Amino acid sequence: MAHHPLTVEQFLMANPPASLGGAGSLTNLLSAIGLVGKTLARDLRIAGLLNMLGVTGDTNVQGESVKKLDQIANETFVEVLQRDGVAGALASEEMEKPVFVASPGRPSPYMVLFDPLDGSSNTDVNMPLGSIFSIVAHKNVDQLPGDNDLLQKGTDQLAAGYFLFGPSTMLVFTTGKGVYGFTLDPNVGEYQLSHPGIKIPSRGKVYAVNEGNYQKWPDGTKRYIDSLKQSDHAAGRPYSGRYSGCLVADVHRLLLGGGIYLYPGEVNKPEGKLRLLYEANPMAMVVEQAGGRASTGTVRILDIEPKKLHQRVPLIIGSTDDVRDAERYLQATAVCS
Ligand code: AHG
Ligand code: MN
Ligand code: MN
Repeated sequence: MAHHPLTVEQFLMANPPASLGGAGSLTNLLSAIGLVGKTLARDLRIAGLLNMLGVTGDTNVQGESVKKLDQIANETFVEVLQRDGVAGALASEEMEKPVFVASPGRPSPYMVLFDPLDGSSNTDVNMPLGSIFSIVAHKNVDQLPGDNDLLQKGTDQLAAGYFLFGPSTMLVFTTGKGVYGFTLDPNVGEYQLSHPGIKIPSRGKVYAVNEGNYQKWPDGTKRYIDSLKQSDHAAGRPYSGRYSGCLVADVHRLLLGGGIYLYPGEVNKPEGKLRLLYEANPMAMVVEQAGGRASTGTVRILDIEPKKLHQRVPLIIGSTDDVRDAERYLQATAVCS
């Protein structure tokens, strides 16, 4: 490994993304997002000493109890990304409505949708956490963006990525030209390129799903998960179960080592749990850019036409061959039932 790996800014200078707002504007936005990650990494490291654990007592627009760290992470994203005109609109899991950023000149050509803290059930037990972001274009920059401008298909994302707060803090992102992973060196204060050109194996040996929900699943989903536990040496089964409660951490494992993550629809909740615009879409863009696959079981995630900001969607994501297997099981039931 190079002794002085590239920082995010150096990497983007050498590999400039298509930029809508003049040279460097997407780089400025990604730098600002990087600052959010550094700030959160610092907060998370000592949250237990600063009375930052536990719940606020509020319920968010999803009907979920809000952790103090959900709120802190959301405020950090909003404060940092409102500055310097780097983004024209911000939408978050923790905010019912988007924030539109007043800007003195022309509004920024970028809008950011984010899950400020992913895996909130892990906050109080020192387990991995993440943040997820999706960057889309504000196409008509002469007008301020409105709610509907944020409802864009996953294929329209300009960039997407996540932070993983584990033993190291990592920033993994794509601007549509492959997937690059950076590790934060807290002493230098920079993310440095540690995982260039990530490619997901076409098949893995790991599955990640909350099996406590087994009885709620349609038969095809049950049969698929059952199949992973059958002994078949040639096919690499049984698979190992690995589920952290943090989508980012589970998908990061698959990105590097292969396998499949599922948060499937349930008989009484066919839309599943995860949110399309700031969880499924950005993770799907990253995984597809690494050569993997993401679907609802019947439809490619990135092709879904969004209807509302906090829309939920079933998510099956990971190695292409594994996701295809799951789709075959799910679709077989869909036809029979
Ligand atoms: P969030 O903390 O942003 O609400 O997301 C939690 C998500 C995801 O990270 C995780 O894989 C899944 O929900 C866990 O849900 P269960 O506890 O139902 O398994
Ligand atoms: Mn989440
Ligand atoms: Mn969250």
